[in-house]
Amino acid sequence: MNYLVDTDITDKQVGLRVDLNVPIENGEILNHERLSAALPTILYILERTKKLCILSHLGRPEEGSFNKNYSLKPIKDWFEKRLNVEIPLLKKFDEIPDSLCLMENIRFFEGEKDNDSDLAKTIASSFDIYVMDAFATAHRQSASTYGGILESQKACAGLLFSKEIQSLDSALQSSENVISIVGGSKVSTKLNVIQNLISKSSKVLVGGGIANTFLKAAGYEVGLSLVEDEMIDISKELLDTNKIILPRNVYVAESTQANSAELVPVDGVREDKMILDIELSDELKIETSNNYIIWNGPLGIFEIEQFSTGTNQLVKFLESSSSKVIAGGGETIYAISKFSDISKFHYVSTAGGAFLEYLSGHKLPSIEALRLK
Ligand code: 3PG
Repeated sequence: MNYLVDTDITDKQVGLRVDLNVPIENGEILNHERLSAALPTILYILERTKKLCILSHLGRPEEGSFNKNYSLKPIKDWFEKRLNVEIPLLKKFDEIPDSLCLMENIRFFEGEKDNDSDLAKTIASSFDIYVMDAFATAHRQSASTYGGILESQKACAGLLFSKEIQSLDSALQSSENVISIVGGSKVSTKLNVIQNLISKSSKVLVGGGIANTFLKAAGYEVGLSLVEDEMIDISKELLDTNKIILPRNVYVAESTQANSAELVPVDGVREDKMILDIELSDELKIETSNNYIIWNGPLGIFEIEQFSTGTNQLVKFLESSSSKVIAGGGETIYAISKFSDISKFHYVSTAGGAFLEYLSGHKLPSIEALRLK
């Protein structure tokens, strides 16, 4: 794989694919993390060439037409303020100037999603060098994240892309002790992640709805809790590895509408109650220094205060942990910013779906395309 730091881009026409897919409401950007994370690569390139065209998607608009709700205009304004320069927002590839510009939402272009070869060629032929820095979109085999890389004269991984892979690999390929924490609602959506992490970790702590299914598989009464019955057998197999840490105490209530939650031992859940949160297990706290901790997924319904204790405890524990914490995923990033500060963590990935795919051990199309260059 080629890396930006090893590539001569002096005065070259550079195309930069970043992931600026951020939540926007009524034109207001609600979370800037991904925009800030894109800045180092943009600044690095601008120090070497002025001819830079930035590409990104935003949301999931219908292809082939412009839709104001998915326009990159608020993002253009954000970068103009940050960089103190005017940035034209283009609608066509044949309009690219010899200066900094931003291409409109690449998902407005016909063929982006299905990796249409004409669009891939158009993207590739517009630049001398194509820099892939959108790790958060690396799991999409689209024209700007796959075909455009393969078709380009020269393609390389940007600073953020390289950092994401290095950080995740440092934990996943570590010979040191690794502990993983997997929360979220369903075993089925995280099965590959759990299986792969079991093979890389000494222990995997489970929380959220995922823990309920494991608890039922282990023979506990889980009352009205969210459980995936079709995942019970595979959960039993995973429990047989003796690597899964189940919660010892859980927060229960009669429904998600309840105003308070009761902390009970895991064998004390009544039939008319549901588990909505867990207490952070002490087993996680028995750690040696230089461990890695990989975390994805909340431990309870953390958006509701009365069911947020476990996730809050976990964030507080991790922010002061001497272990190198690698966290990622949409809800996880949101939980960290709600209860702490991303800067207090060793590494927080900008990716959601791509982070999970990488943790699952799956090949990501953008990485594969970059490897072929
Ligand atoms: C994300 O937010 O996970 C990425 O930007 C990818 O977006 P997508 O799921 O719409 O492809």
